[in-house]
Amino acid sequence: MNIVSPSILSCDFLNIESEIKHFEGSKDVWMHLDIMDGHFVPNLTFGEPIIKQICNKFNIPMDAHLMVSNPEWHMNEMKDYGLHNITFHIEACDNSLELITKAKESYPSVGISIKPKTPVSDLTSDMLEKLDLILVMSVEPGFGGQGFIPESIDKIKELDRLRKDNGYSYQIQVDGGVKGDNSKVIREAGANNLVAGSYVFKQPANKYLNIVETLR
Ligand code: DX5
Ligand code: ZN
Repeated sequence: MNIVSPSILSCDFLNIESEIKHFEGSKDVWMHLDIMDGHFVPNLTFGEPIIKQICNKFNIPMDAHLMVSNPEWHMNEMKDYGLHNITFHIEACDNSLELITKAKESYPSVGISIKPKTPVSDLTSDMLEKLDLILVMSVEPGFGGQGFIPESIDKIKELDRLRKDNGYSYQIQVDGGVKGDNSKVIREAGANNLVAGSYVFKQPANKYLNIVETLR
């Protein structure tokens, strides 16, 4: 079953509790938490105090997407929150392999993300072997509601081929511009975890779960 990860970046922040509650009890749904620092990306979202409360409140796998310049600090800070997956950007790291190894001591699932201009070849076989997830950014990170970059499909296919050829077990997650009209192509390329922000949360709340099902 494909996983869908609604990104709360596009939710109603004044009603965050009731927004997230809609997904409780849904199978193969993760909540995607976009953590932006105003430095690695121009935008700023939310950080540790809010994430901690969200993790305490809900029994949904929480998926942290770190768009920060100092991923190691945040990983360490959040290690006891009960997050399911933590993903950091390869572009923000001097030694990604070391950070993956460290993160695996504290998190059930560890992912690495590549921005649209970062080639798949920047991920070494040592990294691919250890990773639980690879996040292909299909927009420039920082903002919701942007258009899907079509070249991302080739990167997904390449990661899928590497996975098959080498027996790697990582999930391929795709984030940015995922909608009803492109989710099939993205899945057929090999992705099995789709992040969607605006496409889910722009709907009336009673449609959120239907939209999740249509994406997979
Ligand atoms: C963008 C974030 C995404 C964002 C996606 O930098 O990483 O998770 O919420 O938003 P949509 O689905 O609207 O493109
Ligand atoms: Zn994201």
